[in-house]
Amino acid sequence: MLRSHEEAASAVWQALLALRRRTKSPEAALPDLVALACDERGWRFREAEVDHSEQVLWIALDGSLPDRTAGADAPHVAGYDHDRFRAGEDPYVPLKGELDPHIVSALRLYLPCLVGAYRAQRTGRPFVMAHLAQTLDGRIACCNGHSQWISNQANLVHAHRLRALHDAVLVGGRTVAADDPQLTVRHVEGDDPERIVLSATASVLRSEAHYKLFEDAGCTLLCGEGALDGLVLNGRHGRVDVVPLACDAGALISPAAVRTALAARGLSSVFVEGGGRTLSSFLEHDALDVLHLHVSPVVLGSGIPGFQLPEVTTIQAGRRLQVEHFDLGGEILLECRGGSDR
Ligand SMILES: NC(=O)c1ccc[n+]([C@@H]2O[C@H](COP(=O)([O-])OP(=O)(O)OC[C@H]3O[C@@H](n4cnc5c(N)ncnc54)[C@H](OP(=O)(O)O)[C@@H]3O)[C@@H](O)[C@H]2O)c1
Repeated sequence: MLRSHEEAASAVWQALLALRRRTKSPEAALPDLVALACDERGWRFREAEVDHSEQVLWIALDGSLPDRTAGADAPHVAGYDHDRFRAGEDPYVPLKGELDPHIVSALRLYLPCLVGAYRAQRTGRPFVMAHLAQTLDGRIACCNGHSQWISNQANLVHAHRLRALHDAVLVGGRTVAADDPQLTVRHVEGDDPERIVLSATASVLRSEAHYKLFEDAGCTLLCGEGALDGLVLNGRHGRVDVVPLACDAGALISPAAVRTALAARGLSSVFVEGGGRTLSSFLEHDALDVLHLHVSPVVLGSGIPGFQLPEVTTIQAGRRLQVEHFDLGGEILLECRGGSDR
């Protein structure tokens, strides 16, 4: 048996990357049912028959799990059912024997975005996942913007795994200003996602600071239509692609408009990596399919909150989410669902 999330995630990582590459390659249609299977060579992605495997996880890429999945020869068989995930139920379906529990947790955490992105290619509505690391008292940074690092090394690697499994990673303008992030995949094997910055005012383009994101190719700024006066030539500011979008009455861009703009660029999964205001804007509009909330044993007593929503006056008016918890290097990762209008 494996001893930790990280050991299990490393064990299944090549199989997950193979599944991602295959779901992104348009040349040959995939069957509705595929598998991840473990034999003496380790975990592999399987499109066809599964032979001589110890552990098999069937994945329903389209529709629900068919009954025949329980009949495989392997002694340990289970299934992942994305329809159950969307319905707020446990998508892991034990069928025969027991899979390694750390493998089950790792696959539970990473499969939703892969299958969600695959289905999104046909619906044109990108799968949206978010992640925040917060203190016990719900802060994601000090008041001055300092936030590195609230969480542990296991969470840092986990966040890079999530980047590698998405088409795009998106942050708000204040996170760019505070952290000057690169948003690349450096801690695990995988491809860098497209980098997206959301800034209604395009203030990050006006800044005299030189942000790393804007020096590389592969970064797009989504900003308000009225924010650009003279900043942009032929849709570009330096190496940054700039996409003006209509703002709503609150001078913000709706998550629906963000999703439409990203779908138009061929991006079918988006990883919202903060900060609080940006993530809250998606949550407020029921536009988050899943949120990974890492909770670290730190108390600040002040700072920037992760959730910044309009005031409510009764507990009943708050959002009650479905939550499952996972161990990440001795700290808690909460998988939260119920923030999507799907
Ligand atoms: N602990 C963690 O996991 C974590 C993760 C990420 C960031 N952080 C920290 O979080 C802090 C920043 O968080 P924050 O809540 O202050 O700000 P933020 O969410 O990073 O950025 C807010 C800004 O993003 C733009 N924006 C957000 N939603 C928008 C929408 N719907 N339409 C158009 N523009 C939108 C606006 O930019 P304009 O004002 O330019 O229009 C807004 O002022 C930083 O200190 C950073 O270090 C922590």
